[in-house]
Amino acid sequence: MNQTIKFWAVVPAAGVGKRMNADRPKQYLELAGFMVIEQTLGRLLQADVFSKIAVAISVEDPYWPELGIANHELIITAPGGKERADSVLSGLKSIRDQANDDDWVLVHDAARPCLTASDIRLLIDTLINDDVGGILALSSHDTLKSVQDGNILDTLDRRTIWKALTPQMFRYGMLKSALEDTAGNLRVTDEASALELMGFTPKIVEGRPDNIKITRPEDLALAQFYMEQQ
Ligand code: C5P
Repeated sequence: MNQTIKFWAVVPAAGVGKRMNADRPKQYLELAGFMVIEQTLGRLLQADVFSKIAVAISVEDPYWPELGIANHELIITAPGGKERADSVLSGLKSIRDQANDDDWVLVHDAARPCLTASDIRLLIDTLINDDVGGILALSSHDTLKSVQDGNILDTLDRRTIWKALTPQMFRYGMLKSALEDTAGNLRVTDEASALELMGFTPKIVEGRPDNIKITRPEDLALAQFYMEQQ
């Protein structure tokens, strides 16, 4: 392994999480004694591989400045953006003076608090010598349908369909250029899609199914259960 290559984490945390129907953004809901975002950042800090963790926070967010972890020496706060991709780009820019183009960046959703150290290790160990990078993903066990207006058009070949998770691991320079060049494109819903639009073919690394994204109210109980099992 090249000793000069560093690892950085970028955590988009500027979403409002409308589907939770809660009085605050989902990353500030309680999960096993802490807020969701504290759990998520704790998992990244425990991995002990990141030079810094850049967290993109909405400029109108009153909760973040109150959290002790916001002052952690390895955590940098960056202004969030309109879309997830804007928040990630803002996070990348906040470490521009410290990161080299060849360094690795792992982008991880604030709303995925069950990430394990073993999945972070697996992603890094699998992709460390790759030219492009890749993402944690899950294969599908269900039969999948293509649907329009309530009608099934087709049954998809599930052997070729994967669910994209995070972290997503790419080189700093390549990821920043891809997000800048695809800015405003609504097809960019994760980092890999920006790289794909630039003609690259990111890799898939099979992750754990307990790395869920908190999206709906019942996901909090499920996340708590997974944490207890881990
Ligand atoms: O809304 P969704 O669950 O897909 O968001 C995924 C992650 O992206 C969340 O951690 C959310 O806070 C973040 N996000 C962001 N900036 C936005 C929208 C979402 O940082 N404008």
